[in-house]
Amino acid sequence: METLLENETDYATIPTPSDSVFTAPLQRPSHVSEDWLEPQSSYDSDDDSVWNDLYARQMNLLPGRACSAFMQGLEKLNLDRGGVPDFKEISEELDRLTGWSVVAVPGLVPDQVFFYHLANRRFPAGNFIRTRETFDYIQEPDVFHDVFGHVPMLTDPVFADYMEAYGKAGWRAMQYNRLKALGALYWYTVEFGLILEEGDLRAYGAGILSGPTEVQYSVEAKSPNRIMLDVDRVMRTDYVISDLQNTYFVIESFEDLFHRTEERDFERLYQRLPANFTYATTAVIDTDDVLQIGTQEYSLRGGLGSGARPV
Ligand SMILES: [Fe+2]
Repeated sequence: METLLENETDYATIPTPSDSVFTAPLQRPSHVSEDWLEPQSSYDSDDDSVWNDLYARQMNLLPGRACSAFMQGLEKLNLDRGGVPDFKEISEELDRLTGWSVVAVPGLVPDQVFFYHLANRRFPAGNFIRTRETFDYIQEPDVFHDVFGHVPMLTDPVFADYMEAYGKAGWRAMQYNRLKALGALYWYTVEFGLILEEGDLRAYGAGILSGPTEVQYSVEAKSPNRIMLDVDRVMRTDYVISDLQNTYFVIESFEDLFHRTEERDFERLYQRLPANFTYATTAVIDTDDVLQIGTQEYSLRGGLGSGARPV
């Protein structure tokens, strides 16, 4: 069976997508080489105080809503030592725990570069930190989103393996020109995933855990759908880019997530998947294992732009 991974592939070099594969047109800055890595920035006291205030805000929201692996990860990495963490220090601890490291990049990197780093257990983190003016929301992931949101989960051995497998999956997705579908899987798991812990919903996605509104909304609000994760379904589903999600997909455990993806026959799946999404962000279909059908009140009232309450 052809699975998510390609066993014969050389993951030690950056893959080159063929011309027919759409990847975001990012211009490589002249000071970085092919891997897009650069030294970690130095931060001034304003930067450090933005980090500290963001950290404090999230810690008011997360207990009882973030999954236990994330909360333990924060502690294991001692991420509240004050100011933007030193990547070398957290990488030493991460390496000891799961063999991962955190490396600095100028901002978003091309898909193939992202896959290459993940496949080699390196998490690329944006160097810059948001300002007071963009405290609540920024379009491009900064060091707070990347390090606070993503890195604690990399202390969990099974999730750490999932992230590596996801990176390796990029090779086959490029071969079949299905990056859009693979991107939806990342979105609904790594960025906006929920997990059941002893029957309670908890968040593990970095997009949820690093922001002010979605922590509570994702696990408590009536508006969104909550559906048990099915890989085929998720990879056919559109998502909301700059507002709260209309649907969350829920896993039973990280082992469950890893096995559902790693053991899937991706070659067959990619052959059958259409180039575009089949399901709208609010869709509930017959085969869904539904936990809650949302009222969609928030998005029906116009969402973020209308000032609707995230209920
Ligand atoms: Fe992210």
